[in-house]
Amino acid sequence: MDRYDGFWHIYKNLNPTSSESVLDVGCSDGLQANYLAQQLGHGIIGLDIDGDGFEVAKRGADKVKHTRLVQCVRGDAEALPFGDRSFETVVIVYSLHHMAHPASAVCEAWRVLKLDGRLLIMEIVIGEDEPRYGCRTLLLPEVEEMLENARFGAVATKRLDLDTVLFVADKRVASKVMAPCVAIESRSG
Ligand SMILES: C[S@@+](CC[C@H](N)C(=O)[O-])C[C@H]1O[C@@H](n2cnc3c(N)ncnc32)[C@H](O)[C@@H]1O
Repeated sequence: MDRYDGFWHIYKNLNPTSSESVLDVGCSDGLQANYLAQQLGHGIIGLDIDGDGFEVAKRGADKVKHTRLVQCVRGDAEALPFGDRSFETVVIVYSLHHMAHPASAVCEAWRVLKLDGRLLIMEIVIGEDEPRYGCRTLLLPEVEEMLENARFGAVATKRLDLDTVLFVADKRVASKVMAPCVAIESRSG
């Protein structure tokens, strides 16, 4: 089972509805977005700060079915161009570590999720004792801390292979009692 299959296996077990609204943040050329749309059998929205991959994403979507399954939107994960409580599910796949302020992106995901929504993050994480090189810079507890600070409730983690972890965070549980969302790092720094 590859990583995308592993992702879908877990997502499917969350019983997505037949029409659930899904946002893929950092969709790039839509590999994951198209795979997900195909599995769900309906359209999803892919967002990226860089539109270079959108043509490939749209071609991939055309191949999946006659109708276009992935709608591409250019935008910043740290200031999503969607209203509060717009989506049932937000996914961020291998993109968090590319972002300047990943904690802000996690807060934004929380904002655009419906009250019973969930965030699925598939991310490469490194161990405490591993060198941080390139943009591969997140530790598992750091992602967990971002989710906690963004007021997500229950967070489950599943290691999909040696360095990839899937985080499943439920908005519902803690959202009523926690303080407003504040990103842990400053946007300017
Ligand atoms: C490795 S690619 C993601 C691959 C894709 N999710 C997939 O599974 O096929 C990382 C993407 O994150 C995007 N990205 C980086 N910072 C971003 C931001 N602030 N907002 C939106 N997208 C961002 C990059 O432009 C890049 O396309």
